[in-house]
Amino acid sequence: MSYFAHETAIIDESVVIGENTKIWHFSHVLSEATIGENCSFGQNCVVGPKVNVGNGVKVQNNVSIYEGVEIEDDVFLGPSMVFTNVINPRAFIQRKEEFKKTLLKKGCSVGANATIVCGVTIGEYALIGSGAVVNRDVKPYALMVGVPAKQIGWVGISGNTLVFKDNIAQDEFAVYKLINDNLEVVKR
Ligand SMILES: CC(C)(COP(=O)(O)OP(=O)(O)OC[C@H]1O[C@@H](n2cnc3c(N)ncnc32)[C@H](O)[C@@H]1OP(=O)(O)O)[C@@H](O)C(=O)NCCC(=O)NCCS
Repeated sequence: MSYFAHETAIIDESVVIGENTKIWHFSHVLSEATIGENCSFGQNCVVGPKVNVGNGVKVQNNVSIYEGVEIEDDVFLGPSMVFTNVINPRAFIQRKEEFKKTLLKKGCSVGANATIVCGVTIGEYALIGSGAVVNRDVKPYALMVGVPAKQIGWVGISGNTLVFKDNIAQDEFAVYKLINDNLEVVKR
């Protein structure tokens, strides 16, 4: 076994877990989940059935990734952030066939205690502030805060807020250009 799971973690059958991934105390990975390499799952995390998690993903304590959620490479999930998978839940109606897809694209980060309403896509390297409620698609590199989450700026791959001159900004990873209110990488 090339990954590590703490003795209190429960790993169901038919799960694929990549090399060097670490799964800490009281976490549970359900059947047919796929987790990439070099990931870490803190205490009390759940990876739902059939969920796909990419490589290099960091999941802090108390996060449940439900069926219907897909996580690309290098995503950060802050402590106690919340996913959802049914838009109009009722205890007495089965809505398993109605799970809405939620997609977190490469390199994005979600702050502590944020909630992601199902059905949205969070773009590459976007950053969601702590406590935000995301109920709309988020543009790549957008910095989002509040309830409902609104964009207050742009971040680079570094996660730092970008400062623009003539619609151009840069950090240690890339040079970015604002084109029609979308951020594009012009040089890496
Ligand atoms: C969103 C965030 C990255 C912004 O940081 P920043 O660029 O330094 O921004 P500032 O602190 O200058 O705040 C800019 C504005 O956004 C507001 N703001 C910042 N974070 C906010 C949040 N989480 N929710 C609501 N508003 C927020 C500030 O009050 C400020 O508003 P103002 O201009 O009206 O005064 C940061 O506040 C944050 O929430 N980080 C996530 C931390 C986290 O959860 N980490 C998890 C691992 S432990």
